[in-house]
Amino acid sequence: MYRISDELVELGLKRIEGFPVEGFVKGSGPFNPAIMLVGEAPGENEVETGIPFTGRAGKELMTSLASVGLSREDVYITSAVRSRPYKWGMKKARNGEMIERKYNRAPTKKEIIAHAPILDTEIRDVNPPLIVTLGNVGLQRLIGPQAKVTELHGVLMETPILRWDEEAGAFIETEETYHVFPTFHPASVFYNPPVRQLKDADWRTLGDILKIKR
Ligand code: URA
Repeated sequence: MYRISDELVELGLKRIEGFPVEGFVKGSGPFNPAIMLVGEAPGENEVETGIPFTGRAGKELMTSLASVGLSREDVYITSAVRSRPYKWGMKKARNGEMIERKYNRAPTKKEIIAHAPILDTEIRDVNPPLIVTLGNVGLQRLIGPQAKVTELHGVLMETPILRWDEEAGAFIETEETYHVFPTFHPASVFYNPPVRQLKDADWRTLGDILKIKR
């Protein structure tokens, strides 16, 4: 198992201090994974279990992995941000009373920058043969804000990726190229059911790519 260092966790916690986020979920997977999955940020479930993709989206993702003959143990799972971004909202309790609770939200650019050194280190150390981005947040973190999952999904790219340069205060393209395969975030099928067909087709394509690579 590859694990990020305690120093890097400390740095991540320090850099994201003051933002409305909670918890810290380390990426996890073997040293030589078949693929690296890059999601958005942990949600409520993941902060509770300490394991990425253990909620409803995780179940969906595990089904996709199984469809290409892979399981959680074969892949490295991480995301752009490693703490749970939340916002406060109201929810009606069973007794009809309105109660305040935390809801998941997408990470902001500043939060993505705060945790950029973590993802950069994971990619450098694990050096995966193929990076599969799940949704726009992971895709744009690595390719840039112009990249859209609806346009790029299901196609294997060989491309430089973005790495955070602290001195420049900017994301800079790598000299090396990486194999990147964008697809939809597994949770997208819950709020946009027609995406399921596209997502499943992407995973069939990915299965074919992995067969060739093996
Ligand atoms: N979404 C993500 O991007 N990561 C998780 O761990 C869970 C949901």
